[in-house]
Amino acid sequence: METDIEKWLGKEGEKVLREIGIKKEHTILDFGCGEGNYSLPAAKIVGEKGRVFALDKSAFKLTELLKKAKLAGLENIKTIETKGQLKIPLNDKSIDVVLFYDILHSYYFSTNERKKLLKEAYRVLKPEGFLSIYPEHIGLKEIEEEAREANFYLEKKYSKRLIHEYSYTNGYILNFKKLSR
Ligand SMILES: C[S@@+](CC[C@H](N)C(=O)[O-])C[C@H]1O[C@@H](n2cnc3c(N)ncnc32)[C@H](O)[C@@H]1O
Repeated sequence: METDIEKWLGKEGEKVLREIGIKKEHTILDFGCGEGNYSLPAAKIVGEKGRVFALDKSAFKLTELLKKAKLAGLENIKTIETKGQLKIPLNDKSIDVVLFYDILHSYYFSTNERKKLLKEAYRVLKPEGFLSIYPEHIGLKEIEEEAREANFYLEKKYSKRLIHEYSYTNGYILNFKKLSR
């Protein structure tokens, strides 16, 4: 029998990410991508003309991600290994979709650091791009408020069956768009 993670990486992850707005040819940043539970399905959707920047501070996780990408025949994922800094090494207004999936909680970031990271998301996103947040271990209201302070507005809230580590869970995805400054 297929496990949750096999189902997710097979077809279901792609379906969910299409439903929340990821499209062919998009350039995606998956910040704190881990082993690629979201980068891998995103890369299938964006195709040859799109690209996924999979950023993480864990070299081990990025290596695991690349092994999975190779097995799936995906060549459009570029990994970025960082030292955990909040500055994102990408140009202003260069990204269609930033994913902050299960990353913004206090285990990794203080409120102040989250504010800096949200500013960075704002900087790298194209004017029509969107920030997509899957808030695990943090309140929805808190993150909505912090995103608003960083000049985003909530465009849409989705209730979905999502993958969390290796198992399914029910959760929310919040999509934010940029208010102009
Ligand atoms: C809970 S995992 C989530 C992985 C993936 N986004 C998902 O939802 O399946 C969090 C990941 O964020 C990475 N991470 C934590 N703080 C980070 C930072 N400051 N910069 C880059 N990556 C970070 C960790 O190494 C880990 O792989």
